[in-house]
Amino acid sequence: MEDCRRGQPHSSEPLMQAEQPMPSVSDRSESSPSPIRDSRAAHLRLLAQVAFRMVLKRQITPYKLLNCVLNFAYAVRRRPAVTALPSMIEIDINNICNLKCPACPTGIGEHHKVNGEMSYESFCQIVDEVKDYVFVIVLFNSGEPFMHKDVCKMIEYAHAGGISVITSTNGNFFHVGDHAERLVRSGLDVLIVSISGVSQDVYGRYHQNGKVDRVIAGLRKIAQAKRDSNVATPVLMLRYLLFDYNHSELDQARQLAREVGAQLNIRRAGTREDYHRLKAAMLSERSADAPPVTNHCYWLWSLPLIQYDGDVRPCCILNLDPPDQGNVCRDGGVAQVWGGETFREFRTQMLTDKSKIPSCRNCTSFPGLQDANIRKLLRWRSR
Ligand SMILES: C[S@@+](CC[C@H](N)C(=O)[O-])C[C@H]1O[C@@H](n2cnc3c(N)ncnc32)[C@H](O)[C@@H]1O
Ligand code: SF4
Repeated sequence: MEDCRRGQPHSSEPLMQAEQPMPSVSDRSESSPSPIRDSRAAHLRLLAQVAFRMVLKRQITPYKLLNCVLNFAYAVRRRPAVTALPSMIEIDINNICNLKCPACPTGIGEHHKVNGEMSYESFCQIVDEVKDYVFVIVLFNSGEPFMHKDVCKMIEYAHAGGISVITSTNGNFFHVGDHAERLVRSGLDVLIVSISGVSQDVYGRYHQNGKVDRVIAGLRKIAQAKRDSNVATPVLMLRYLLFDYNHSELDQARQLAREVGAQLNIRRAGTREDYHRLKAAMLSERSADAPPVTNHCYWLWSLPLIQYDGDVRPCCILNLDPPDQGNVCRDGGVAQVWGGETFREFRTQMLTDKSKIPSCRNCTSFPGLQDANIRKLLRWRSR
């Protein structure tokens, strides 16, 4: 869900990626009791709200549920098989951005693909194919979705197909014209707005080229448009990227979140140095004292990432260059890739020896939770 929650390398610092949990860092802020608890509570509230709305909108069908359960069962039973399609997909409709955040590959021009965007037609084709299976589309990864001229049309299309949509933005777009109103009308379920301060001086250190006044005005306009239309969506999440230098503006961010009716999500953020250091560490050989990793990863059975050109990655941790599994435009659609031989072999490799996969060998994302749980359950049943 919102949380395509990713684990961390054996380090407490974050690599920047689409969705990752707050790493287990100690809270350095004296003024706020527990930003980390704030973050977890915000995620849980968000999950509950999204699930509740999906029930109300009848987006949770028995067929989708069965599909989800089956894929989970394959993962738990350590089978490389999957059903026809996943229950969630992540679509990165572009890798273009208006800002230059220094720890973001897109912001610093180090994205591994040339700049590009997905066409509206390709997006609709994907939605048509997956809509009977998929609960949620996570509509962001490495770019700024609101740089795409058709983003609201895309959200509308997915929404009309009975799929919930979650996206994340730097929020420099909604202060002008009728952008806020169009966003609200699109049916978007969750909007994450990333900030790193509430004064321009502090905000501009990370969100380079961004204008915090625009973000704040945009948030207010979205909140107003929701009130005018008497709708509760998009649910707003204000994501505060926490660096050493911006703890002092956390309380103001809390106030802003309250004012616009947003959940506050405080995420310990990586610097550019963290980004390069950790990337190297994760790709290195495993050291003898590294914590054990299980030959498993639930993401391979649950949440593929489709890039703007149709290439499919097994997970969203693009920094580590997980191998392509095929292309939905060239190889006959999402089902052909998801259930295809390449992806199946990759799952088999994962279940057999994760240490042979350079992008995965140090990753502790979903550290075999599914195995631990099933073993516990079986022990409990045999009592
Ligand atoms: C690459 S951004 C793309 C979406 C959009 N442009 C945005 O900034 O929200 C994906 C996610 O990474 C988060 N992010 C950006 N820089 C980060 C950092 N240094 N550490 C951790 N997360 C970061 C953002 O908050 C966002 O939710
Ligand atoms: S706004 Fe988002 S995509 Fe753009 S540079 Fe910053 S983190 Fe990257």
